[in-house]
Amino acid sequence: MPHFERHVFVCTNQRDPGNPKGCCADKGSEAIRETFKRELSERGLKGKIRANAAGCLDQCSRGPAVVVYPEQIWYRVPTVEDAKEIVEQHLIGGKPVDRLIMRSVTERAAIEARAAASHQSGAREVHNTAEMDDAYRAMVKQLLESQAYRELQAANILGHALKFVPTLGFKLSIAEDLEEELEHFAEVARLYSDVVGGDVAQAVADRLSRVPYPESWAEIAMVQFLYDRAGEVHLREYVNCSYVPYRNIVTKILEEEEGHESFGEAVLLELCSDAKRRPELQQLFDKWLHVALLSFGRPGTDGNRYAVEVGLKTRDSGAVMQQFLDDIKPTMRTCGLHFPPTEKIGIAFSQEVNLAL
Ligand code: FES
Repeated sequence: MPHFERHVFVCTNQRDPGNPKGCCADKGSEAIRETFKRELSERGLKGKIRANAAGCLDQCSRGPAVVVYPEQIWYRVPTVEDAKEIVEQHLIGGKPVDRLIMRSVTERAAIEARAAASHQSGAREVHNTAEMDDAYRAMVKQLLESQAYRELQAANILGHALKFVPTLGFKLSIAEDLEEELEHFAEVARLYSDVVGGDVAQAVADRLSRVPYPESWAEIAMVQFLYDRAGEVHLREYVNCSYVPYRNIVTKILEEEEGHESFGEAVLLELCSDAKRRPELQQLFDKWLHVALLSFGRPGTDGNRYAVEVGLKTRDSGAVMQQFLDDIKPTMRTCGLHFPPTEKIGIAFSQEVNLAL
């Protein structure tokens, strides 16, 4: 029996189209496995490294999932180009491809925070309102209102969306997400009441009355993909927030909401495989991209600079927004979506914004 030095397991699991878990096969994992096999064979490594098809590796929301043994390095490999990079850099060069390593959302946030820490001035931690001055308290008030708005809006949208959801499996999955959003809203509301002494639901009622609602299954998928993804990237900024009670809430929300956006992504990928639907999906993308980007706030403002200076967050909104845009690009490429012209998006971008696909 040949003794392989390494095994590369590629999940090629296929689930029914109506399954809310999605699957790696729908995200192109068969082509990823073929690429590993071909690249290894062409490099004369067939007898040393084996690329195997695997069943579900229990990382469905983060797939296409690949694991390399014996190192036990877990990867998310979205494209065949990424598979080639792993062969070249990791399997031949011995250096894992850091950007593709599968990490939980809080691990990613901690890495980003460390990378940004060199730009910070060693902000002190704040544990309660007695330790805040007026400017700090005003900024925390603003942060909590934004977070409460996002959680309540997400819950309202999911509740509204339920009637368009085609299967019981998806309805149950949406109902679970909705309950989580409401629990997160309740936590933010409690903290707001401590810091500000008021009702945050009232504070955000006017803003909430102006948001649109999805009117079809395709639109729900787009909202989940874009809006939840924006929320996650935005929240990652606060994992090392100097206001400790908010930091704790953010960490909990991130852990519990991980995977929400992959549900929308899975449905979107399925819908866009029908080329006739792409104009409709592009229209929905244009509409919800604007809403998703609104949650980052204006880049380059004094408020941004202050929040970074006192360690409430680590980067200007422009940098966070760019990260979100880069995050959605692989799915956009697969679905044939493009960014509308900036004037049509209707958002204030930083000058360095990169919309190239
Ligand atoms: S379907 Fe691939 S990890 Fe579950």
